[in-house]
Amino acid sequence: MAKKVRIGVIGSGGIANGAHLPGYSLIPEDCEIFALCDILPEALEKTTAKYPNIPHVLSDYRELLAMPEIDGVSVCTPNFAHHQITIDALKAGKNVLCEKPIAMNAVQGAEMVAAAKAAGKILQIGYNSRFQPSNQALKRYIDAGELGDIYYARAQALRVRGIPGWGVFIDKEKQGGGPLIDIGVHMLDLTLWFMGHPKPIAASGVTYQKFGKRSDVVGFMGQWDHTKFTVEDFAAALIRFENGATIMLESSFVANLKQDSQNVTLLGTDGGAEAYPLSLTQEKHRTMVSFEPKIPGGNGLNTHNAEMKAFVECIRDGKEPLVTGEQGLMVAKIMDAIYKSSDEGKEVAIG
Ligand SMILES: NC(=O)c1ccc[n+]([C@@H]2O[C@H](COP(=O)([O-])OP(=O)(O)OC[C@H]3O[C@@H](n4cnc5c(N)ncnc54)[C@H](O)[C@@H]3O)[C@@H](O)[C@H]2O)c1
Repeated sequence: MAKKVRIGVIGSGGIANGAHLPGYSLIPEDCEIFALCDILPEALEKTTAKYPNIPHVLSDYRELLAMPEIDGVSVCTPNFAHHQITIDALKAGKNVLCEKPIAMNAVQGAEMVAAAKAAGKILQIGYNSRFQPSNQALKRYIDAGELGDIYYARAQALRVRGIPGWGVFIDKEKQGGGPLIDIGVHMLDLTLWFMGHPKPIAASGVTYQKFGKRSDVVGFMGQWDHTKFTVEDFAAALIRFENGATIMLESSFVANLKQDSQNVTLLGTDGGAEAYPLSLTQEKHRTMVSFEPKIPGGNGLNTHNAEMKAFVECIRDGKEPLVTGEQGLMVAKIMDAIYKSSDEGKEVAIG
């Protein structure tokens, strides 16, 4: 039997408890959660009540990284702490699954990618939507040429009243931004993957802060402290690529829309597609045909569980991850350009 992969989890908040710890726990034959770390004792207490068998529980991530037994680390801290912890982990010879976005900005992201290269270790980024069976099916259709040349896409992550009432999601200093860098990145990453990661060359973006600082706006994801709100609550951007393609991206924490929506729409020369729910549309025999592929086993797989399993398999089998650090960096470069474009009121080039 192959040796079990030993995992350390850094940051014991929402995503660690909701995704990483349950995901690793489901595959005890392949991996062991060897250590858990958080700077907050109460976060550790809450988690160890649910996971009493984790052998090492620590408050300093450097102690976790010093453990020679650990092969892979999940970085589950807020965005501002991704960069240093990931670089330290890679330097300590660990493989890293870092939550999305890769970091606060592309400068940090590039340093993380370089550190992974120098260490010869895996850097996987937590864009779990890629593991959705329907998204994987759509990718197979695309790779088989069913859409032809994809020249335009619309990516949307829109919440009606969805400012998180916990954590640091409203703090620009700790998150780098609002809905764009928190949820817009998921749909942007997915769209880039569908389109085969063309090279981005420019972005024109706008951001608005119309609701977050107000005391009279209802919260459907808890009530945030409006006096501490420093991020945008809506963002939109047009992103241009070297091959002539464009993506229109929209993301909100708050918007006066009828309903939340998360979707990617792709327009290609031989077909179009919607990701949520999956459908394809093509012209055939002088008619228009739309169809909804049915997936063996259904579409109900937990994408987070699949993500942890894939990370463990990449470590064990020495495989390249589905979501690479370089691809996470591309998203960060686009984020930087959108925020800069919004500040400057003009299109910004992406190097
Ligand atoms: N993939 C997804 O769908 C998804 C969903 C939610 C959050 N996330 C990402 O996960 C990350 C964390 O989000 P969250 O919702 O879990 O936040 P959270 O605030 O609930 O938890 C973060 C935890 O990290 C701890 N922490 C901070 N600095 C630390 C350090 N130096 N060492 C150890 N622990 C430290 C905090 O004390 C806190 O307990 C963010 O980057 C977020 O974007 C991803």
